[in-house]
Amino acid sequence: MSLLAIEGLGMRFGGVAAVDQVGFDVQAGEILGLIGPNGSGKTTVLNLLSGFLTPQAGSVRMRDEDITGWGPERLAQRGVLRMFQLTRVFTRMSAFDNLLTAGMARGLSEAESTTRARSLLAELTLEPVQYLDAGQLSGGQRKLLEFGMLFIEPPLLAMLDEPFAAVHPVMREVMARFIRSRHAQGATFLLVSHDMPIVVDLCQRAVCMNAGRVIAAGDIHSVLKNHDVIEAYLGNSDAQQPASLEVQGDG
Ligand SMILES: Nc1ncnc2c1ncn2[C@@H]1O[C@H](COP(=O)(O)OP(=O)(O)OP(=O)(O)O)[C@@H](O)[C@H]1O
Ligand SMILES: [Mg+2]
Repeated sequence: MSLLAIEGLGMRFGGVAAVDQVGFDVQAGEILGLIGPNGSGKTTVLNLLSGFLTPQAGSVRMRDEDITGWGPERLAQRGVLRMFQLTRVFTRMSAFDNLLTAGMARGLSEAESTTRARSLLAELTLEPVQYLDAGQLSGGQRKLLEFGMLFIEPPLLAMLDEPFAAVHPVMREVMARFIRSRHAQGATFLLVSHDMPIVVDLCQRAVCMNAGRVIAAGDIHSVLKNHDVIEAYLGNSDAQQPASLEVQGDG
């Protein structure tokens, strides 16, 4: 079942068509990978889908409702959340208090927020640092904290932009485990990542963009074997790790 149906999405910055005639579906309950070389338009798509930018063309439907052009708050109320959307970390507040605040901002009672915060801190391996100011956490710990804040009240659709970038491998595995567990509980994800092994591990399907357009979509293994996808990565000297496409082997 389709949760989001995106059609003909367009966004230009000056002369650059950052997003050009982009269309794809996000199925309910899936982890959909959004991949593509640097500058291909992935973040702009997330900005359009999360209400941080208003599309200049195209439409977005959630189930049977037209949500094109909705702002971040209205989308968040419907459970469509981008990672940092309601998860702005307050650096001079403890990790625990950040979670508590996030829970209460989402309408939970203090008692319920506290219970959920404790359980999330344990699951995300943040117990040892829970009373440190969030500003003292490492980049990876802070991202884990953002995961906790996002999921203190589970969203319908969680959009993540490069959550694994510059994160220690041990914490990357905690993140991947967290995503798998929430996926098992029914959450839907749109995951932007350059980390192909993790994308292959987590995603059944992927959409690949290049120069603002969708160049391939479907089963992750067929996308990674797609000629245009390989060309896009190889042809883009700025692209991160074309070699990471090597994981296509077992498909
Ligand atoms: N606010 C903006 N103003 C002007 N140009 C922009 C803006 N945001 C994005 N762009 C341009 O739009 C294109 C797509 O950028 P975008 O950040 O969406 O790509 P990306 O796929 O997320 O790249 P990366 O993998 O490097 O994060 C690029 O050419 C970029 O320079
Ligand atoms: Mg980006």
